[in-house]
Parts: sequence; C-alpha cells; structure tokens
Amino acid sequence: MISILSYPNRGHYGNSSYRGNCSGYVIRDLLLHFKPKNFLECFAGGGSGYDAAIELGYTNSIHLDLNNRFGNFNILEDPLPAGADLVFSHPPYWNIIKYSGKNNVWGNKIHEDDISHIQDYNEFINKLNFINQKIFNSLSTFGRHAILIGDVRRNRKYYSIIRDMKWYGELESHLIKIQHNTLSQNKKYATDNFIPIAHEHLLIFKKL
Ligand SMILES: C[S@@+](CC[C@H](N)C(=O)[O-])C[C@H]1O[C@@H](n2cnc3c(N)ncnc32)[C@H](O)[C@@H]1O
Repeated sequence: MISILSYPNRGHYGNSSYRGNCSGYVIRDLLLHFKPKNFLECFAGGGSGYDAAIELGYTNSIHLDLNNRFGNFNILEDPLPAGADLVFSHPPYWNIIKYSGKNNVWGNKIHEDDISHIQDYNEFINKLNFINQKIFNSLSTFGRHAILIGDVRRNRKYYSIIRDMKWYGELESHLIKIQHNTLSQNKKYATDNFIPIAHEHLLIFKKL
C-alpha cells in the first residue's frame, strides 16, 4: 500500500448497488498489509469487507451493521466484540446518503439510531466521536482502527469530518482514496467556482 488509493474498477466484492458502498480492494489491501488475526468490520453495509475477508481465507472475521444482513447491530447501543487487532469502519458521511427507511437503502421505516438520519452536523459529530471511542476501547493493545470517511459540501459550505471529529489513538497513516465515477463529477453546477470532491480519507489510528 502507498498513501494514495485508486481503484478505477471497484471489484467483485459486495453489493455494488448498495449506495455508498466502498471497493472491497480497500479492505483486501488493509488485510494483506496488516495481516490481522482478529478482524472486525463496523458498518459492513453491502458486504464488500465480508467478501474480501472470505476471499483471503478469514473464517473468524466479524462484520456488523444496523441492516438485517449484518445482524441489526446497533453500534450506539450494542457491545462491540473486544480484542480485534484491526477494525475497519466506514460510517455514513453525515446524511448525504440515508440508509434505513422506505425508498432509502434498506427497511421500511427509519431506524431511530441510524446515524445517516441525523440532521444536525454537530450532533452527527458527537455520535461519531462516541462510536470512534467505543471502537478504540475495543481494540487489543497495538491494534488499529482504519476509518474511511469523506468530506461533505452542503449549501456551499464545506464540512471536513476528519477535522471536526475527535481522534482516538496515535495517527499512524493518512491515505487519500480517489473516488471514481461519483455523481458529483458528472453534475453541472450553476457556478463553477468550486472544486467537486473526488476523494475520501482513510485514517489509521494505532492503540499504544
Ligand atoms: C457508508 S455505509 C457502509 C458501506 C459498506 N462499507 C459497503 O461497502 O457496502 C454506512 C453504513 O452505516 C450503517 N449504520 C448507520 N447507523 C448505524 C448504527 N447505529 N449502527 C450500525 N450501523 C449503522 C448503515 O446501515 C450503512 O450500511
């Protein structure tokens, strides 16, 4: 791995129509690089991480999400399995994609703890801090938390989630992942004086 990630083709991992899914190559490359013994994925969504772990022969990896496919696991309420030496998390980017509820990604009604439905940005950041601390606490000593998250532009205001959230553990690496074929790249904006976002951040924190 190097600090730029670019996968023009997302690969055959997970459900490609699950909105906001990430390429399984991200998780595959993290697994190949760090070779964790106990791998935990939070926000498993459409199964990209699950497929990547299975392909690499993992039989003990754990994949959790609020959706039905990954156990209706509520990261705000349910205890996280302790002792992972690598946790990969891919939370919603605030509320740019809403997950639960009719005409959204899954379910017929909005789940009250689905963090993609939080309207207020500061409330979203507070919940994300709570989750990140919970993940950090669950790690084994020297374990790592790799979090993939993007920036948001809303009503011409730029929100840097990685700047606004709290960091738990020692930042070990900051990778930039290029986003290919995003909707915003094809959109025509009324004014062309801002630059569309075409990257995400992969931050790797280590527990010392
Ligand atoms: C960006 S998506 C993850 C996509 C996944 N990496 C993939 O490739 O398909 C974010 C996920 O957060 C989940 N989510 C939202 N609130 C949650 C909560 N309280 N507990 C657990 N998962 C939650 C949603 O169901 C959604 O699948």
